[in-house]
Amino acid sequence: MNIEWNIERFEEVASTQDILKNSSADSEGRVVVADRQTQGRGRYARQWFDGEGNLMFSFALEPRCEARFIGQLSLIIGLAVHNALQGFIDTPEKLMLKWPNDVLLRGEKCCGILIESSLSSSGLIDKLFVGIGINVLQAPDDMGVALSRYSSSSLMPSDVLQAVLGQVESLYARFQNGEAEALLHEWSAYAHEIGQPIEVKPHEGVLKGRYDGLDELGNLYLRLEDESRKTISAADIFLL
Ligand code: BTN
Repeated sequence: MNIEWNIERFEEVASTQDILKNSSADSEGRVVVADRQTQGRGRYARQWFDGEGNLMFSFALEPRCEARFIGQLSLIIGLAVHNALQGFIDTPEKLMLKWPNDVLLRGEKCCGILIESSLSSSGLIDKLFVGIGINVLQAPDDMGVALSRYSSSSLMPSDVLQAVLGQVESLYARFQNGEAEALLHEWSAYAHEIGQPIEVKPHEGVLKGRYDGLDELGNLYLRLEDESRKTISAADIFLL
């Protein structure tokens, strides 16, 4: 099924994510893009940097699948962004995915993805709100990297937006067609390797261990020092 993207552009908003979430308009395919955000937010209520020439947008999908599949969708969106960004830099092999859905360029973050959802009374994902920030021309001083640093062409955020939406459309169609397992394999091919030492920060505390792959829902397996295995469904991870 094709998605009919309906793109709304703003010069400045508080947060594209909040505009999308607070609207009662039909949502599948609705895209909100802004040049600037005064209250751009990331995962765990962190702020998101809105450098000039960067891409900040949110879009909505209506997957109507069971809520347990949200982890798969989160990874698939990250994979779509990764695939799209490959066309904009001179060293596409230096792009990698970090669980759950960060996109790194030479080990530094160039894109952040925020996924929020609303569930129907029967427990299906009614709406998925996906917020994406891509450092096209600028990165914050303290962390991250801009695509432009590794590109010899002049990059236009609007071209990056079209490429990302194209990839989302094609991978989402595959997800709906029952190809989640294959998509998670593709995600794994671009992600950290099994055995990679990682630090996992869930809501509270810190766990150290080694990355041990994904389960079928896209949760992360953490191999602890005593060789026991823990399943992580939500956390930040750091590659050591
Ligand atoms: C993260 O890495 O923590 C996710 C960052 C998501 C930032 C984007 S920018 C567009 C959209 N609007 C927001 O307020 N946040 C997301």
